[in-house]
Amino acid sequence: MRFSKNIASLVPSATLAISARAKQMSAAGESVINLSAGEPSFPTPEPAIDAGLEYVRSGKAGYPPTPGIPGLRASVASYVNQTTSLAAAEPANVLVSAGVKQALFNACFCLFQGGDEVLVPSPYWPTYLATVELAGATPVVVPTRWEDGFRVDVATLEKLRTPATKGLFLNSPGNPSGDVYDRDLMAEIASWAGENDVWILSDEIYRRLYYEGDSAPSIYDVPHQPERVIHLDGISKAFSMPGWRIGYAVAPEAVIQKMSALQSQTTSGAAGPSQHAAAAILSSPQRDDVVRDFRDILRRRRDTAVAALSGVSGLELRAPAGAIYLYARLTATTDSMSVAEQLLVREGVATIPGEPFGTPGFLRLNYSVSDEELAEGLARIKTFFS
Ligand SMILES: Cc1ncc(COP(=O)(O)O)c(C=O)c1O
Repeated sequence: MRFSKNIASLVPSATLAISARAKQMSAAGESVINLSAGEPSFPTPEPAIDAGLEYVRSGKAGYPPTPGIPGLRASVASYVNQTTSLAAAEPANVLVSAGVKQALFNACFCLFQGGDEVLVPSPYWPTYLATVELAGATPVVVPTRWEDGFRVDVATLEKLRTPATKGLFLNSPGNPSGDVYDRDLMAEIASWAGENDVWILSDEIYRRLYYEGDSAPSIYDVPHQPERVIHLDGISKAFSMPGWRIGYAVAPEAVIQKMSALQSQTTSGAAGPSQHAAAAILSSPQRDDVVRDFRDILRRRRDTAVAALSGVSGLELRAPAGAIYLYARLTATTDSMSVAEQLLVREGVATIPGEPFGTPGFLRLNYSVSDEELAEGLARIKTFFS
């Protein structure tokens, strides 16, 4: 069978595949602790449930407006303006999509094309490479070092910049490492991007899952060129609603209009009940309490995981400042693919190896599971490494 060149380099999401395999093993009766998923484990917050149900019960099932219902675009604009120091978003700067994934695809497809290069710091969320390639552009991986907290510096960016460089991904707190860019570094990068006419795609989906303050520094907390910034966020992580599939991009209005035109020809507006639920949680007086409660539990689980695995021979780790993952370094091998496979087969613990993130030699563990699962998973990992 012949497939088009469009998908010549496409590989299915490795992270979703491993998670699906772990779920299949449990369904077949095996005892599996799944630390591979990229999702928090909390129930949907009440204001979102109520608004989603109310909309479903209203019987209104028309197509929602392509860029998002007005109430959600307005809630996103206020949320971004209230939780960062320098954003000046209007509803017209917001596009609502079926998750950040779709917003990201829309952005890359509208901004990049064959011959363009887009800088992607490693370790990276694998979707960045796939999406840039689907747009016909070339991802250029920017190496970083574990010792530097996996953060890029401007000197390295400048070394890799060519006349074809059109974009740069930032993801802070990052998946898989949980590392966070501080304001100074973020500001230096924003200034470099502005001077060189490089789009910044700032994926801030873990911004509120930050353990050293209320919110990790956003691109909107530092001086930046708004006409060259795409801010991406959604409700999947901070509000623990990944299955509702709502994400958004905040960007210059002209870009939002193009992204919306693209979305109008692919999927149309995101699902109506989900949009109503998202608008309710983002505009709820309980919004920040919900995030704080999640964060407190996650911090405790992070600390439990770090304490349990520190000193385990074969593993090196540090406490990440954000997100929901530990990215443990394997000290004896860089073949994390086989270690993850052995860990799954021998001890029934699913993790994601570092290879799909561009950094072999690491294991990503999601500590946002129940306390019982976490305790059992950590005990099995210790047994495995001992
Ligand atoms: C860095 C990053 N961005 C975006 C997403 C996807 O978000 P959404 O569920 O809104 O598509 C994920 C999910 O794992 C992620 O880790």
